[in-house]
Amino acid sequence: MSDSWWRSAVIYQVYPRSFADANGDGVGDLPGIRSRLPYLRDLGVDAVWLSPFYLSPQADAGYDVADYRVVDPLFGTVDDARGLVTDAHELGLRVIVDLVPNHSSDQHEWFKQALREGPGSPLRERYHFRDGRGDLPPNDWPSIFGGPAWTRVPDGQWYLHLFAPEQPDFNWDHPAVADEFRTILRFWLDLGVDGFRIDVAHGLVKEAGLPDLGHQTEWHLLDVGESPCFDRDGVHEIYRSWRRILDEYPGERIAVAEAWAPTLDRVADYVRPDELHQAFNFSYLATPWEPAAQRAMIDASLAAMSRVGAPTTWTLSNHDVVRHTNRLMQDLSGDVAGRRSTEVDPVAGLRRARAASLLLLALPGSAYLYQGEELGLPEVVDLPPEVRQDPAFHRATGQDGYRDGCRVPLPWSGSTAPYGFGPDGAPCWLPQPDSWAALSVEAQDGDPGSTLTMYRDALALRRKLLTGDTLTWRDAPAGMLILDRGPGFRCTVNMGAAPVRLTPPGELLLASGEIGGTPDEIELPPDTTVWWQI
Ligand code: GLC
Repeated sequence: MSDSWWRSAVIYQVYPRSFADANGDGVGDLPGIRSRLPYLRDLGVDAVWLSPFYLSPQADAGYDVADYRVVDPLFGTVDDARGLVTDAHELGLRVIVDLVPNHSSDQHEWFKQALREGPGSPLRERYHFRDGRGDLPPNDWPSIFGGPAWTRVPDGQWYLHLFAPEQPDFNWDHPAVADEFRTILRFWLDLGVDGFRIDVAHGLVKEAGLPDLGHQTEWHLLDVGESPCFDRDGVHEIYRSWRRILDEYPGERIAVAEAWAPTLDRVADYVRPDELHQAFNFSYLATPWEPAAQRAMIDASLAAMSRVGAPTTWTLSNHDVVRHTNRLMQDLSGDVAGRRSTEVDPVAGLRRARAASLLLLALPGSAYLYQGEELGLPEVVDLPPEVRQDPAFHRATGQDGYRDGCRVPLPWSGSTAPYGFGPDGAPCWLPQPDSWAALSVEAQDGDPGSTLTMYRDALALRRKLLTGDTLTWRDAPAGMLILDRGPGFRCTVNMGAAPVRLTPPGELLLASGEIGGTPDEIELPPDTTVWWQI
């Protein structure tokens, strides 16, 4: 495994509860993931990022951690985690785990102690406990999941939670909090993990005094703007201390920030040479499918990250946003997560998603894929309210209330639910649509036209050909983008509404859809990307 593997790595996000279920309880687990590692090796990814599997009451699908060193019995044991890491390494895959440092669960021992000890106790200082203003909360901050960011406890004090009430925010000014997380990092590094995805990396430090905003607002993770509790300068000192720990371990252990900062330059601050390695490029995720916007955002992303010597990351889907099979078809001004998501034409949506994925995989830097996108899974938009579990769903105006639609368990095989997700009989924690038989791994495996085959081919070609860091734009007809990567590789994308005729620039390597025309003049249909050897 070469040095700086992460600079161009393709990293696949596994959402454990929805990947594969070994014990038949309808919820995915670590043994299930372990059994499917060869699938990920064959897909051709470099690393796997696992969303949280730690002890948790699951108020926010595991992003509410009660014990950072214990695996939730729902998912298995620490031995299962160790076995998973060992198996992955034997297959040449790295493993990144999620770290949730902004908040714990309200069932975390520290929070339970703080509640028991009462007002004035030093144990309350590890969280943000305050007296209210009469019957009103201590300040006017809203929770990202809706309602106020404060909950009152029986003794009258209030505690801060930027997310659900079951997710109290840590006070990162307290040295015990910083010490605790340094030992948690070491625990998982000692177990062999290759890195961490840092949840809400921009949220840990709050402005001193927790000042009022002074105006009514809703906070969206994707659009935090300037605020007293996001992207404060103080977070960077925390990441410098974490980088020193990561660097003590052999094999280039990394950290990737989930940092929704207001500008790309502010995001780049998280990946300065002595801080974290990567940050998610949510600005790109939120860019409409339109050539000028895409090109401008790609250039801006590369420029911002190269200023600090970091690779750019690219991603189109994750467990918090509407799948890009659906999202790229919608006008999402002011709603980039797509939480108002509606049904789209599935054929057109998949065509566009495939074109977008091939463009993404042609870009220099590191690519993050979300489980199921290699199957072309659509967003599930018709889940009945009674099965939805996103904590924001039932809280008025909370953002992300529709995140269950991208979290439906994967179809692996067979013609009826649970499609090989787990042993027959156990209903999945979220119901799979009846139409998913045709999208299963088994149905797509070996089919030259399937989305799975396209991803496998793309990842193999990327590994072989797309090694350079350079990107050069070529003149392109209206509606199109044409880019070269290093010598010998070209990517052409038709984002327009009409087909475009062009002379093939070289040997066709891979196409996201059917190509028309003749060998001398091909016709590139709308929403189609082609890779060429030139
Ligand atoms: C991050 C996670 C999201 C979670 C939130 C609170 O944004 O990606 O799923 O709800 O943090 O932990």
